[in-house]
Amino acid sequence: MKVLVTGGAGYIGSHTCVELLEAGHSVVAVDNLCNSGKKSLDRVREITGKELDFYEGDLRDEGLLERIFRQHKIDCVIHFAALKAVGESVKKPLEYYGNNIGATLSLCRAMDKAGVRKLVFSSSATVYSADNRMPLSENAKTGDCTNPYGWSKYICERIVSDFAASDNSRRVAVLRYFNPVGAHPSGKLGEDPKGVPNNLMPYITQTVLGRRECLNIFGDDYPTPDGTGVRDYIHIVDLARGHLSALEYIDGRPGVSVFNLGTGKGVSVREMVAAFEKVNGVTVPCRIAPRRAGDLAVCYADAEKSAKELGWSAFRTIEDMCRDSWNWQKNNPNGFEE
Ligand code: NAD
Ligand code: UD1
Repeated sequence: MKVLVTGGAGYIGSHTCVELLEAGHSVVAVDNLCNSGKKSLDRVREITGKELDFYEGDLRDEGLLERIFRQHKIDCVIHFAALKAVGESVKKPLEYYGNNIGATLSLCRAMDKAGVRKLVFSSSATVYSADNRMPLSENAKTGDCTNPYGWSKYICERIVSDFAASDNSRRVAVLRYFNPVGAHPSGKLGEDPKGVPNNLMPYITQTVLGRRECLNIFGDDYPTPDGTGVRDYIHIVDLARGHLSALEYIDGRPGVSVFNLGTGKGVSVREMVAAFEKVNGVTVPCRIAPRRAGDLAVCYADAEKSAKELGWSAFRTIEDMCRDSWNWQKNNPNGFEE
């Protein structure tokens, strides 16, 4: 298949490009590089020994998308391109709605014009309402999002679902990711957040590297076994492969299909820190800090539907995630910058 990957230079996009190329697909990537650089795509080429086409530009530029669809016979699109920082979205809501919804609308319009019928959309566990019971199955309640980023994903899910429903030859998969962490085992590709990391794993790796003084554990008084927050961390390579399963799955299924991409297992902050220290033989300096506003105590997926229907499950362990994250960070202390 020839796959258009939007946001292909980003963290999840670049790892998915590797898996697509290694599975024998052709890849056309498009990215405006607002949160990434071309280096990640050079690493994709290095790891796979294969070429991919790259267009630098904004998805809201419909002329660019039309050109791409004219120049390539695209079979399906995987749509990663979005802004994703929760805190920033609260400060810049219009930028987040404008970018995330604008990009999705112009992509759907261009797909419509070009007659491209298959789409895999990157969504997030953040679309689930906070009052659900764990584990979260795909039919748990959604909405009541606590920030503009979450709402933008919720609205885009609606847009791509209505897009699928309006023509019965369209096939759309909505994938709700839990907490992607880890890096490619080669150590050549990984997460390279700009500025101070918001997420746990890059904060841990940068602390061990000495770029951060110590890890702030946001709350140790949650109703969890050790008092710290529990999440469903999923290895980036497992997550990337979930997209290949989704592409195969939707081939024969009109309409929209929704899947969680998670492991189904919850891991606490303290458990993650302990695993990181043990696997890598390092110390992670930590201190207890106040709870972070908007955080849930516990969040993990019901992974049954993905296993049964999609035929996909995550099997990499927390130890794999810790080892590969550190391998990437220590080999690339400044990320993709030399
Ligand atoms: P990322 O920032 O590394 O990648 C997103 C890429 O999209 C970046 O390279 C950025 O430059 C590009 N981009 C953004 N807006 C664009 C536009 N208008 N036109 C062209 N390119 C644009 O983020 P990621 O972690 O790889 O996330 C990929 C997708 O997965 C996003 O849609 C995100 O919301 C979703 N997601 C991520 C996580 C996570 O924890 N990383 C969790 C749930 C969902
Ligand atoms: C965050 C986002 C969520 C997004 C998810 C994807 C917020 C409020 N939520 O959620 O929308 O879908 O990332 O990856 O930003 N922690 C610390 N110290 C740190 C960082 C995190 O103790 O420096 C704790 C958190 O309190 C949480 C756990 O580690 O218990 C994981 O945090 P994080 O990686 O930010 O993910 P989420 O909170 O799940």
